[in-house]
Amino acid sequence: MVFIDDIFADEVLDSRGNPTVRATVILSDKTEASAIVPSGASTGKKEALELRDKDERYMGKGVLKACENVAKIADVLIGTDPFNQAEIDALIKDLDGTDNYSNLGANAALSVSMAVARASSKSLDIPLYKYLGGSNALTLPTPMFNIINGGSHANNSVDFQEYMIMPLNFDDFENALRACAEIYHNLKNILHTRGHSTSLGDEGGFAPNLKSNEEPIEIIIEAIKKSGYEPGVDITIALDVASSEFYDEKKGYRLAGENRTLSSFELVQYYEKLCSKYPIVSIEDGLSEDDWDGWKILTERLGGKVQLVGDDLFVTNKNILKQGIEQKIANAILIKPNQIGTVSETMQTVRLAQRNNYKCVMSHRSGESEDAFIADFAVALNTGQIKTGAMARGERTAKYNRLLEIERRIIFGEYLGKHLFK
Ligand code: PGA
Ligand code: ZN
Repeated sequence: MVFIDDIFADEVLDSRGNPTVRATVILSDKTEASAIVPSGASTGKKEALELRDKDERYMGKGVLKACENVAKIADVLIGTDPFNQAEIDALIKDLDGTDNYSNLGANAALSVSMAVARASSKSLDIPLYKYLGGSNALTLPTPMFNIINGGSHANNSVDFQEYMIMPLNFDDFENALRACAEIYHNLKNILHTRGHSTSLGDEGGFAPNLKSNEEPIEIIIEAIKKSGYEPGVDITIALDVASSEFYDEKKGYRLAGENRTLSSFELVQYYEKLCSKYPIVSIEDGLSEDDWDGWKILTERLGGKVQLVGDDLFVTNKNILKQGIEQKIANAILIKPNQIGTVSETMQTVRLAQRNNYKCVMSHRSGESEDAFIADFAVALNTGQIKTGAMARGERTAKYNRLLEIERRIIFGEYLGKHLFK
């Protein structure tokens, strides 16, 4: 019988140059696999804890304590069966003993959880998506490509965090990716010609200083047309407003770039206007994680027409999602494994969402690495959608390139595209 022989961790760097945890698992059959955890910048308040050293190294962001905690996890897992992911994750959770991994750190927990899954798939010589999802892992996710960055992911005047394009009218992932890469290049040319900066934000999208939060949509529509695609038919728009970042419970929503402050209701009306003017199919964190009353109005008014994704709102947490389902808040959830802590708990949240017809969007973090685990994970769980940045920068393309590889290998694979929102 194969068992876990060794587990250790290293402090490595993420795409922003901050330390993060890489765990390595070695099985008794000599299979070795590693996994690197990502890190967010606009984090939800109720996310599982990301343990940082808070000392003089790396401006307090070192993860040596989390690496030490991986050694504690190793003490419990060495000798156990790596192929029982649920049991592995339950052992990690028990060892931590808290709701939000405030003991071990979710970075320690998730790195091991992912590395065990990867080592197991390697040992069995089964691709990771198939190991995690079985023979039913067949859906190539439709991407949300983040091509203009604002908010806390960029140093510009745009308040909304992410302007994304979704390729719907395509039969496969490969051609969807190509179309969006063409649009990305045309967008760069348009920005350059108009004298805007073409420097990049944290997720690989451009970060120009524009006059309003609407202007990025206008320019993206131009880029779509210039590339020979039809906005609203071939390519649609998705936004991640990340509005918790500019919400004040007393004052409301502060759009600094436009020098105005809106109430929840006014912001909902603004979205209604944007949705009637542009082919917007999805809005993430349209209202703050602390504004459930506002979310109710947003869902009532727009939920029938537009995908409303809860990120900071649900933090991949099944208990919070359950409250959302009961209160009819949002109709989709962003899935970020490091918000909750282990592979199995992520799966639980996805199952709850799918049972209740909430759409799932597998997601990277703004601080990423070359680890493409979420590409396999999206296929494994048939989330149907993935958000992993622009089609530039290695830590983002790692995921898209992995999806190309998976698409080539899967027989009977499906790219939902135009059927996604029907
Ligand atoms: P984060 O942003 O990784 O910085 O939290 C991503 C998002 O808000 O979706
Ligand atoms: Zn978000």
